Amino acid sequence: MAGPRRRRSPAATGEALTGDLAAEQPPTDGGGRQWLDARRRRIEAALDAALPAESHWPPTIHRAVRYSLFAGGKRIRPLLVLGAGEAVGGTDDALLPLACAVEMIHTYSLIHDDLPAMDNDDLRRGKPTSHKVFGEAIAILAGDALLTHAFHLLVDVERGAPDERLSRRLRAAAVLSTAAGTSGLIGGQVADLEAEGRHDVTLADLERLHRAKTGALLGACVVGGGVLGGAGEDDLARLARFGDAIGLAFQVVDDILDATEGAAQLGKTAGKDAAAGKATYVRLLGLDGARQTAARLLDDAQAAIAPLGERGALLRGLAGLIVDRRA
Ligand code: IPE
Ligand code: IPE
Ligand code: MG
Ligand code: MG
Ligand code: MG
Repeated sequence: MAGPRRRRSPAATGEALTGDLAAEQPPTDGGGRQWLDARRRRIEAALDAALPAESHWPPTIHRAVRYSLFAGGKRIRPLLVLGAGEAVGGTDDALLPLACAVEMIHTYSLIHDDLPAMDNDDLRRGKPTSHKVFGEAIAILAGDALLTHAFHLLVDVERGAPDERLSRRLRAAAVLSTAAGTSGLIGGQVADLEAEGRHDVTLADLERLHRAKTGALLGACVVGGGVLGGAGEDDLARLARFGDAIGLAFQVVDDILDATEGAAQLGKTAGKDAAAGKATYVRLLGLDGARQTAARLLDDAQAAIAPLGERGALLRGLAGLIVDRRA
């Protein structure tokens, strides 16, 4: 079974982009599919250009970094950066440093999340996890390398760049570091581990945990994209509300998929949340309750950017994809 599948208009469900993130479909949607394909290609090329070659000394770390980064992620976060930034008039050249930085931070968080000391997973993005291939020490260092490189990308502004570009980059770096830090991703991962095996976790606890471990980084993609794209404060507030809703929805759907899909579809171990005693929306609300929550959050997200009108069409499509995805 897939995630929530309430019938909605094509734009609201993301069918304007594609019904399946991994599927190759002909462009029958008035432009969404072409946008997605073109932006994905640009993201892949920018990530490749941003990193040292595998042969660069010492080759082990560069092989490990590239192994995980190019293992086949969906690139949802960089697409959100581009979708938000373009909605407010930004160019891809201005947005790609952040798009690459968030994908690097996300990939580092997955490498560390899979370590034996954390979720102890063997499979990620359809391949053996980093520590299975390179050993724990190199996997830890590959995560460290990606985190460090992400911030290098953001602050590596060419000499003589206009003040406006410098200040936008610095603001985006501040947004991203807050999201990745102890009140965001790291704090959420701590709370996730501490909630394991506990049955006194309330819905409020779980919402806070999920907003931190996953929602914060997705929110930073949307707000950071808006910052680099030159959004005014009104649009930034709309993007922030959109990011809060879709960020939480993303992890609710991840909980649903863990309980409903197999490893071949997910590219990662299935059914592991229940086996590890994780606190999830499925455990607290059941599958139907979790699906209703995701659908409600999608409505909230779409409502937040309704004032953007046509400018928000691609973001609306991405939100639909996030909630309707099957992997
Ligand atoms: C998985 O994220 C980890 C979570 C935060 C739930 P994704 O589902 O975006 O994983 P990739 O990047 O496509 O591998
Ligand atoms: C991962 O959450 C969140 C981060 C990596 C920050 P999960 O542990 O649920 O992610 P998966 O299911 O292993 O991808
Ligand atoms: Mg985890
Ligand atoms: Mg995990
Ligand atoms: Mg999960």
